[in-house]
Amino acid sequence: MLDAHADVLNVANLKTVFNTRDGVVHAVNDVSFSLKAGELLGIVGESGSGKSVTMMSLLKLLPSPPAEISNGVIEFDGHDLRTISDEEMRKVRGGKIGFIFQDPMTSLNPVFTVGFQIMEPLRLHMGLRKRAARKRAAELLELVGIPDAMARLRDYPHQFSGGMRQRVMIAIALACDPKVLIADEPTTALDVTIQAQILELIKELRHKLGMAIIWITHDLGVIAEIADRVAVMYAGQIVEHAEVRELFANPHHPYTRALLETLPDVSDKSGQRLNSIDGQPPNLDKAPVHCEFAPRCKHAFDRCLKENPARRPVNADHDVACWWNPPGEGAADA
Ligand SMILES: Nc1ncnc2c1ncn2[C@@H]1O[C@H](COP(=O)(O)OP(=O)(O)O)[C@@H](O)[C@H]1O
Ligand code: SF4
Ligand SMILES: [Mg+2]
Repeated sequence: MLDAHADVLNVANLKTVFNTRDGVVHAVNDVSFSLKAGELLGIVGESGSGKSVTMMSLLKLLPSPPAEISNGVIEFDGHDLRTISDEEMRKVRGGKIGFIFQDPMTSLNPVFTVGFQIMEPLRLHMGLRKRAARKRAAELLELVGIPDAMARLRDYPHQFSGGMRQRVMIAIALACDPKVLIADEPTTALDVTIQAQILELIKELRHKLGMAIIWITHDLGVIAEIADRVAVMYAGQIVEHAEVRELFANPHHPYTRALLETLPDVSDKSGQRLNSIDGQPPNLDKAPVHCEFAPRCKHAFDRCLKENPARRPVNADHDVACWWNPPGEGAADA
């Protein structure tokens, strides 16, 4: 029996840089988080905040050069993924850790049938023979709500709609019963109705299969709907981290508060997300030496421009990297 409180993944002090001709890009700066068995951790932040590079670093999917994981520990299943061999990593990736990325058209190969693409990880990771793999592939398509599954295995990706292709990607990610599923903005390219269907599907599968999930999005509305815990990223750092209701009830970081202000009224059913706050994200040409949010922050004061705040506890379920405190909370410790 899995201990519901045990960490399945532990990331500590992860740093990833890109060594480019124009200089170093500090994409991920000292990121630490954990994932407990069966829980859903949401990661939210504007475009360019380092969400994808963090996940690609975990999965060792970044080409090196230019990418370099310069620091950190990535503990999964009793191993540090940073130091295991490429061979072992191939078993983890798509096996014990499943992943889905944003654009289903670039993730599915147009020249192979959908059946072939679902059967491939089953043969590679689970050693299934063709007949068993085909049977399991059909079960997986059924699981993600694709009707007439056995017949549809023979179809090519272009014969599926965008929403159905994303369901196929989910089937592939789930093929080998992963302990962890990483979903990187998997619904962003889809229209709102289909997005809602995919979210429902994930909620249902999560309870059925009991895996832990990291769900990446730029949309706090989605987080409110599905996450247990949330990490807010800015400039390659986690700037706030809390249990989901706590974050919405008691946001501390001015960036989180600004993100929350961009959410439309819940009674607004237009599906529009404003999701933009004044100012530009920082360029990441050096590691943070002061608070990277300062130029956009209405609460910035002297210290913010001199020192980069470390994460500090707000309470047992909540930490924040900021020198300021919301009114009534007292000053941050020196
Ligand atoms: N191959 C690359 N070379 C240089 N910089 C990169 C590369 N890939 C990503 N970056 C930079 O890393 C930062 C984080 O990107 P990313 O993780 O994709 O953001 P997010 O997923 O939060 O939108 C961005 O500033 C981006 O420009
Ligand atoms: S540390 Fe200062 S500048 Fe940064 S978010 Fe907090 S108040 Fe704003
Ligand atoms: Mg991304």
